[in-house]
Amino acid sequence: MQSKTATLRIDDKEIALPVMIGTEGEKAVDARKLRQDTGYIFYDQGYGNTGSCESAVTYLDGDNGILRHRGYPIEQLAEHSEFVETAYLVIYGELPTQEQRKNFGNLLRENAHVETQMQRLFEGFPKDAPPMAILSSLVGALAAYYPQLATNNFEKDLQQFDLAAAIAISKIRTLGAMIYRHTRGLPFMHPKDLPFCDNFLHLMFSEPYQEYVSIPEVTQALNLILLMHSDHEQNCSTSTVRMVGSSGANLFTSLAAGVNALSGPLHGGANVAVMQMLQSIHDEGDDGTRFIAAAKSGSKGNRLMGFGHAVYKNFDPRARVIGKACGVVLNKLGKSDPLLDIAQNLEQAALKDDYFISRKLYPNVDFYSGIIFRALGIPTNMFTVMFAIGRSPGWIANWREVASNAKGRIYRPRQIFVGSPKRDYVPMAKRS
Ligand code: SDX
Repeated sequence: MQSKTATLRIDDKEIALPVMIGTEGEKAVDARKLRQDTGYIFYDQGYGNTGSCESAVTYLDGDNGILRHRGYPIEQLAEHSEFVETAYLVIYGELPTQEQRKNFGNLLRENAHVETQMQRLFEGFPKDAPPMAILSSLVGALAAYYPQLATNNFEKDLQQFDLAAAIAISKIRTLGAMIYRHTRGLPFMHPKDLPFCDNFLHLMFSEPYQEYVSIPEVTQALNLILLMHSDHEQNCSTSTVRMVGSSGANLFTSLAAGVNALSGPLHGGANVAVMQMLQSIHDEGDDGTRFIAAAKSGSKGNRLMGFGHAVYKNFDPRARVIGKACGVVLNKLGKSDPLLDIAQNLEQAALKDDYFISRKLYPNVDFYSGIIFRALGIPTNMFTVMFAIGRSPGWIANWREVASNAKGRIYRPRQIFVGSPKRDYVPMAKRS
């Protein structure tokens, strides 16, 4: 890492702060000594201008719409790779050899089942419980069922990392399918000796009296959509996984925190909100004009869901890939979806509207993903669970960076206090 310095002049003092330059030329002022040298902190609500870590997993250039996992452009991975291979790449840093890919796939299959005792946890969840609330509870529960892999001692937990990572990826997939069946009153299916995505579709759609018949185009589309979600730099949920992991918390506990962060409508919950928005436009026979007008009010409750991004001020490259795949998948499956037409019209209209242009608001990963999930027979309330299944490798890779960093520190941001100045206690009798 090259380094030079930045000069900060404050209160008649001048201090030199080291400058860090990343692999792709991103520049940062190293502020780790700022408070001790000046008594000041930087204030950056939402951390939009703050780097919390050095990471080698994903590179993202929001201005130019670039996304690479371990150096490989997302467009190339979308064209040539599949979810499990990309999961291996994101976690271990290299594309797997044939042997490594086989062994990783076997480890995922061997850990696809959910223990009977853990299955009983479902009995405590109402059928109409929000799927992400169930998922976060069950992912956290993995720490209770695998305490030997979740000791909260980085050295011990890292010795078992490969197994813990495989359990996390494989069981989050199986638990996702179980949540779908539980909320529909359907019996759980047992995992079979199938590839990752085929096993998911079997766990979702097989019945005791009728096996799910694999459709290559569906499996391929599911691989693509999960791959497109596999990691995304320091997004809200991934930063949450790092934050929780920085306390020494085990992988499963940290992942459960990531699931919770992802569930918000401004983050992973947006794919559900997009479909609800498109469905509402369809049901009202609106061409989207009303929605766009309401979205321009800017209030968080009226936003054009699936549009805008905290980092991309250009097209989200994933939206391009998924947007293109929508038509292909629907054609291959001999399906059509009026919501796709509405989404495409909405995109065209918004991209011509100065409100969106001036704010650099483009479609993001969530704008089209729901169209594909729906084409695969996955119901809207399961879309964010699908996002969590896809993002599990990225969360795991980031937890591993935190756990492996011998010089790592607990994440503990500062604040600017704006509350009441010092005051003395007032006995109850004297309070007005
Ligand atoms: C994901 O971080 C990641 O990498 C996340 C993610 C990942 O893979 O992990 O990419 C996944 O979360 C994608 C984003 C999904 N969320 C949505 O689609 C929800 C709709 N989008 C927004 O709420 C918003 O764009 C955010 C939350 C995504 C980004 O918010 P920012 O960067 O904090 O933007 P902002 O709130 O500061 O808005 C800037 C301006 C404001 O207007 P002004 O105050 O300047 O007048 O843009 C407006 C906002 O009102 N704006 C929108 C808008 N998004 C921002 N106006 C209408 N519709 C929108 N969608």
